Amino acid sequence: MKIKSNVKLYFSIHERREPMLDKINNRKLSITVIGMGYIGLPTAITFANAGFSVKGFDINNEVIKMLKNGKVHIVEPDLQEAFEEAINLGNLVPTNELDKSDVFIICVPTPFKENENKKIADLSYVESAAKMISEYIEKGNLVILESTVPPMTTEEIMGKIIEENSGLKLNEDFYVAHCPERVLPGKILYELRNNDRIIGASNNYSAEVTKKLYETILDKGKVYITGTRTAEMCKLVENTYRDINIAFANELSIIADKMDINVFELIELANKHPRVNILKPGAGVGGHCLAVDPWFIVEKFPQEARLIKTAREINDFKPEWIVKKIEEEAEHDKSKVIGILGLSYKPNIDDLRESPSLKIAKILKSKGYNVLGCEPYIEKKEVDSIENLPLNEIVEKADLLVLTLAHNQFMEKLEMLKNKKVLDIIGIIEFENIGVEGK
Ligand SMILES: NC(=O)c1ccc[n+]([C@@H]2O[C@H](COP(=O)([O-])OP(=O)(O)OC[C@H]3O[C@@H](n4cnc5c(N)ncnc54)[C@H](O)[C@@H]3O)[C@@H](O)[C@H]2O)c1
Repeated sequence: MKIKSNVKLYFSIHERREPMLDKINNRKLSITVIGMGYIGLPTAITFANAGFSVKGFDINNEVIKMLKNGKVHIVEPDLQEAFEEAINLGNLVPTNELDKSDVFIICVPTPFKENENKKIADLSYVESAAKMISEYIEKGNLVILESTVPPMTTEEIMGKIIEENSGLKLNEDFYVAHCPERVLPGKILYELRNNDRIIGASNNYSAEVTKKLYETILDKGKVYITGTRTAEMCKLVENTYRDINIAFANELSIIADKMDINVFELIELANKHPRVNILKPGAGVGGHCLAVDPWFIVEKFPQEARLIKTAREINDFKPEWIVKKIEEEAEHDKSKVIGILGLSYKPNIDDLRESPSLKIAKILKSKGYNVLGCEPYIEKKEVDSIENLPLNEIVEKADLLVLTLAHNQFMEKLEMLKNKKVLDIIGIIEFENIGVEGK
């Protein structure tokens, strides 16, 4: 195992490492997962079902109350069943009180915030989690940061906070690692076991212990060790790569519209080239990762990250451009009812964070249009001030429907949209009608 140059090696760690490795083997290691959200809860469940004694800690009392009542608060396939298994094994305890633990795994949010017109990482949740851990951390403990963070956060910010508040010394008394999460909502439990993991370690101790620990939950996935900075950057680069590629597709959709050609046909034909694989355009880019993480690179390298910034701006602009198209279709008649099909940020999930579809609905509403939404994955009657109706009702009430997401529930009932005026953002209906030779 090779660790990059920014990781200091300590040979004295052998004495401490062996007991931790034994504890992992014997499932005697105690784990506390901090933050019971989309990432933390499935992670805690997965370690609990691998035989570890896991505490699931969150500062949100409502979340802990619900978990203690036996219900998960996140829409995710098989999560409820896996949670019940962990609880029945007696291996998972949801709690709002932090305590001592061999390993702390931080899974708190890392959104961005606006600062002097710049988007920068809001690290307040990570900082507060680090301060809390400082009260309980003991010699030999390991703190693993799973939250997505800007480069130089794991050791330089999180590690420093723990050092300053606990009086312990990083890499001598306690250890840190960054183990970024790459799961896809909708497939989280599967991907937790089968995706490869990158582990950025602060030294050999954290490298070996973290590797051994994650290997206990991995089926097909492999562990790759590097330094913390490379691991931090790796996660950001993965999402930035996708953001840039989607920006290209979204830019093409705007150009194709000006040319009065169908962008989905254009892309399908271009992709017949053996080395071209253009992604599909959509309503923009949303979610807690792709729409956020590239800004963390721009924040640190504003002069150098020019392509990354432009891609972000293109994807952020797409909902505004779609609003203009909707207004044209509605002939700027504000008495017309506009139905937005899909409010979450991607198909088949309930997550609204940075959702471009929701942004479209809200811009239209702020302009005085009569906007209805249909988000079948959210049961509430109102989603962020947008009335949320079942599909049959919105189809009946809307003068113009905007298809923004390929939710399964829409795809199965596309015939309901027949004879309706539909603006198809994702190329499902329009493209089918055009047809491409050889398709
Ligand atoms: N959701 C995803 O698909 C995904 C994928 C990869 C990486 N990530 C990253 O994982 C991290 C967590 O994301 P998420 O989607 O799970 O967030 P989330 O908002 O679903 O959950 C975060 C939880 O942390 C809790 N929390 C906040 N501060 C806390 C503290 N000091 N102590 C204890 N609990 C605290 C919140 O109450 C919340 O329940 C983020 O950095 C995100 O970028 C998320």
